[in-house]
Amino acid sequence: MKVRKAIIPAAGYGTRSLPITKVVPKEMFPINGRPAIDYIIEEAISSGIEEILIIVSRNKNMIMDYFDRSLELETFLERNNKQHLIKSITVPDIHIQFVRQPTAKGLGDAIRLGKPFVNDEPFAVMLPDDLFLDEQPVIGQLITAYQEVQSNVIGVQQVPENQLKNYGVIKEMHLKDQLFEVLDLIEKPQSAPPSDLAVTGRYVLDPTIFTFLEQLKPGSGGEIQLTDALKDMLQLKKCFAQNLSGTRYDIGNPDDYYNLLLYMYKKFGHDSP
Ligand code: G1P
Repeated sequence: MKVRKAIIPAAGYGTRSLPITKVVPKEMFPINGRPAIDYIIEEAISSGIEEILIIVSRNKNMIMDYFDRSLELETFLERNNKQHLIKSITVPDIHIQFVRQPTAKGLGDAIRLGKPFVNDEPFAVMLPDDLFLDEQPVIGQLITAYQEVQSNVIGVQQVPENQLKNYGVIKEMHLKDQLFEVLDLIEKPQSAPPSDLAVTGRYVLDPTIFTFLEQLKPGSGGEIQLTDALKDMLQLKKCFAQNLSGTRYDIGNPDDYYNLLLYMYKKFGHDSP
């Protein structure tokens, strides 16, 4: 079945980037004049996704406003001979809907809210902290892998050993090229990580994952963890991991955000890509 839908969980507090995230959602951090989440939407569209659900929370109305049309601004631009700017505020040509996560109970809880949206189809999950601005959209790489294996596929990348405690980490068996079978997963291992392959914010999931999400107890950090549901589901179906090509920038990490701005500036100068 074609992967047509994507969930973007954007309900977190952004504690790593306080105090700015008290009022500006991390997903709205500017990158060459566009918010970070706009690049995620672009990645989804160029990977063939047709419908998007963004999970938000109380302080994230700015995201909804950004993806809404502003007729007032369009009229203003038209009347003031600034028609050339209208294109820059045109909302992406894709169906986007929103749901609010009432309490910050973790990534697994956020994804759980997408069950009625997903409606028994395979679906993509794209964490908007993780930006990959390469030629080949990374969620597209996972969708291709899903078509082959017809089961959960997780995007992974090698991460330095001292940073593995901040990620979900897989125990893997190499199958071919960049594809692995996942034998086990651990969310934020505090010691003895099973490999140096970290989960890097992109997934294509079988809808059966909801059965496992619904049964979950809080895990690492007292939160409902998607990683735990993926681990539980190993009893039922194989899970795979694809080593993603491309540079990843974690915009919640100040060094990565700075490097991303620098990369984009060098590539595009002042022009918005
Ligand atoms: C989440 C996932 C984790 C993954 C990470 C990638 O953690 O739970 O498995 O490795 O995203 O960015 P978070 O960074 O939200 O704590």
